[in-house]
Amino acid sequence: MKIVAIANQKGGCGKTTTAINLSSAIARLGKKVLLIDLDPQAHATFGLGASNAPLDKSIYNVLTDNHEKRRDIADCVISVSENLDMIPSNILLSTLEQELKDTEGAVSKLFESIYASRLNYEYTIIDCPPSLGFLTFNALRAAGIVIVPVDMGAFSLMGVGKLLGMIELIKVKINHAPQVRALATLYDRRLKYSETMLNEIKTFFKDQLLETIIRLNVTLKKSVAQGISVLQFDSKSNGALDHMALAQEVIRMEGAEEFKQALEEVAFKQEEAALPVVPRIPAIQPAAEPVDRGAIFSVNAPEAKEVYVVGDFNHWKINDASRLVKLDDGSWQKKLALTPGKYRYKFVVDGEWMLDIQNAEKEQNPFGTYDSIKKF
Ligand SMILES: Nc1ncnc2c1ncn2[C@@H]1O[C@H](COP(=O)(O)OP(=O)(O)O)[C@@H](O)[C@H]1O
Ligand SMILES: [Mg+2]
Repeated sequence: MKIVAIANQKGGCGKTTTAINLSSAIARLGKKVLLIDLDPQAHATFGLGASNAPLDKSIYNVLTDNHEKRRDIADCVISVSENLDMIPSNILLSTLEQELKDTEGAVSKLFESIYASRLNYEYTIIDCPPSLGFLTFNALRAAGIVIVPVDMGAFSLMGVGKLLGMIELIKVKINHAPQVRALATLYDRRLKYSETMLNEIKTFFKDQLLETIIRLNVTLKKSVAQGISVLQFDSKSNGALDHMALAQEVIRMEGAEEFKQALEEVAFKQEEAALPVVPRIPAIQPAAEPVDRGAIFSVNAPEAKEVYVVGDFNHWKINDASRLVKLDDGSWQKKLALTPGKYRYKFVVDGEWMLDIQNAEKEQNPFGTYDSIKKF
């Protein structure tokens, strides 16, 4: 699955228009697409006519820790049109940051929810709010590609550095480096200023600027007001043609389908480098060895601050029940009561999701990456 976040803290630069119509265009090209509305203002939800969805089926319900309100991501999916589903938003989403402010790993909530749910989409497109807060951070952390719409206004490039700074921070802090692409929007070739701005954007982004340019097109405005994509509204309009071209260009982009493979590889290499292979101390069970009515999961990571084991047995959830205990020799262990069977799992070492390097058995998952496998 490729995850594409549409982000820019500047309002009115075309994020929601891009999110709605790029999703619809990729779906029209035969790919299964999920659009996640991550803006409490819910413009994408309105723009695709999904605003009468039940209030308890929204991205808020996916991300909240409130047990009464929490729902599985798959329960919150609304069907929009052939190949296109969406998870709507509503104003409750604006309370989420406050609600989760003391929660560990809150910035990875969206990433973990998508990963844990094993959704079967080829593309997930995320429409971000016009701010650089908690919600946008969650989207950037989940995304393999970040598209930054830039309109032809005088101040359009002013805040972009901050957004790129946030992406850089995610790279440094959590080893996650999405590909960044700028998208020129609201381009009016009759105005000389559009040309001047486009040149500035080219100079700023160089080869990170997408070839497709989204022209100013009033049909885009009209279609949003009708609650349908521009492709359904008028498939011959410039808005429709531009978004079809954009969809093709995004599909052609390589190297983003890893979801989190690059992350895994980095983590894997770091772990290998940091932890030379040492003979295991006999008192410690080998990783994920079967024990009475369960399995022991263990990781040799003396430098780590916290380690969790997540898998299909605990819905890929990071919480107290999935936390490993550190032993005197620096290794981490957890015994889980499991009925015999086949389980998929991963370790989360200081926020990094990684395979069990002591267990060669692994299987591909729907994201095209691997999970460790334990059968007993
Ligand atoms: N290419 C375009 N041509 C004409 N109007 C557009 C275009 N892109 C966006 N708009 C309009 O500009 C306004 C802001 O766009 P929107 O996509 O909602 O931006 P954002 O989500 O970044 O705030 C909306 O009224 C939208 O219909
Ligand atoms: Mg918007």
